[in-house]
Amino acid sequence: MKNEISIGLLGLGTVGSGVAKILQQHQQDLHHKLGVQVSIKKVLVRNNNKERLSILDPNVFTTDINEILNDSSLDIIVEVMGGMDEAKHAIEEALKAGKQVVTANKDVMAQYGHDLLKLADEQKCDLFYEASVAGGIPIIRTLEDGLASDRISSLMGIVNGTTNFILTKMKKENMSYETALAEATRLGYAEADPSADVDGLDAARKMVILSSLAFSTEVHINDVLVRGMREIQDGDLEMANKFGYTMKMVGSSKKDEDGIEVAVEPIFLADSHPLASVNNEFNAVYIYGDAVGETMLYGPGAGSLPTATSVVSDIIAACRNLLLEVNGKRVHSAQHERVIKPESSRFAKYFHRLLVKDEVGVLSKLTAIYSKHGASLQSVMQHPAEQDGQAELVFLTHQISRQQHLDVLNDLAGTASVISHYRIEGEETA
Ligand SMILES: NC(=O)c1ccc[n+]([C@@H]2O[C@H](COP(=O)([O-])OP(=O)(O)OC[C@H]3O[C@@H](n4cnc5c(N)ncnc54)[C@H](OP(=O)(O)O)[C@@H]3O)[C@@H](O)[C@H]2O)c1
Repeated sequence: MKNEISIGLLGLGTVGSGVAKILQQHQQDLHHKLGVQVSIKKVLVRNNNKERLSILDPNVFTTDINEILNDSSLDIIVEVMGGMDEAKHAIEEALKAGKQVVTANKDVMAQYGHDLLKLADEQKCDLFYEASVAGGIPIIRTLEDGLASDRISSLMGIVNGTTNFILTKMKKENMSYETALAEATRLGYAEADPSADVDGLDAARKMVILSSLAFSTEVHINDVLVRGMREIQDGDLEMANKFGYTMKMVGSSKKDEDGIEVAVEPIFLADSHPLASVNNEFNAVYIYGDAVGETMLYGPGAGSLPTATSVVSDIIAACRNLLLEVNGKRVHSAQHERVIKPESSRFAKYFHRLLVKDEVGVLSKLTAIYSKHGASLQSVMQHPAEQDGQAELVFLTHQISRQQHLDVLNDLAGTASVISHYRIEGEETA
């Protein structure tokens, strides 16, 4: 029986430092929980001249990844270096060497997760990735264990703190998108290049991971319909408020007998929906299970210690398995064939905001286009437009297919200019 478990830490940045701190500060609790000592024995960094955490022995540092991957005394490799190719390679090599692996890397897990989990199964090793989605929220474990007994039919998440922070500032403090983004950058919530956040790719990667787990299907990044928040136009947030909605950048995935649909986009979310009140940089994941009904997990989506909490929980899980000699016993293979729904069977209500020439007969021309495509309307409203001779019209549809929505937008082009359009969600919980 082991009396010490040795860790090789790849990266000592925001997350890696948090991991080192928690392992050090909670040493006694961990010893009590596991009955053994858990120690960081090697740490990979890029620049060995940076000042490092004084709690770590200066001799643990290396800039040579092979020194860690080839060290047979290490039991668990914790990948918190980020990036794609090197990180993926490190995870693969660690698994091939029979080591347990913990990663926080959503980019790698979204792109190669299915292959890496297969490799982990073959190698009888653990590959845990709790911190890859929603930082400090234990959503992966909830899907794998807590809700293992249920059938999940829908999952919606605010899984990108940067865009949620920006939208909250725009709504509550009337900030412009540019000012809110600058504030997010100043506070360290947004990267110098915010594209992956504001254009939806970061959230799409997380939705690939969550949807694959929730529906036991190999969901791929290209399956996700992605619209970024740069498509939001002046006045759209006010429009949402006026109709009882909150604009949120939401990842959603749904499953029914026709297949799966996954999307990341700014939507009009009913004010009464639990996700509508998730503000600032916080994350939340709302799950609908056939048996359990509604549940929601809420918490910090990033940050050194919150994210490290998830990483260390994965380390504890790997340690427990090591001590019981049951690593790699989870079944990761997808149960269901991947069937992605066509546009014609994705149903939702839609908001369309149009600018038209203010002249007799224009409204009937527009409503004729909706009827031509069988898109029934819940309401039509006129708003004064800023330019003379023009009118702004808002159409709210009943449930229509995404195909009908796209066909209507396409046909409207000759008669109106489409200012903006959004999917409406969450009214059934009102
Ligand atoms: N930050 C968060 O709140 C958060 C939340 C959830 C998930 N994650 C994920 O956690 C991972 C780490 O994020 P982070 O924010 O901690 O990153 P970070 O602050 O940039 O830290 C990266 C660390 O890895 C080292 N490193 C990177 N590439 C290396 C290479 N090629 N060779 C040697 N060392 C290398 C860096 O060394 P130097 O110190 O010498 O530069 C640094 O210590 C990413 O996958 C990220 O997506 C982060």
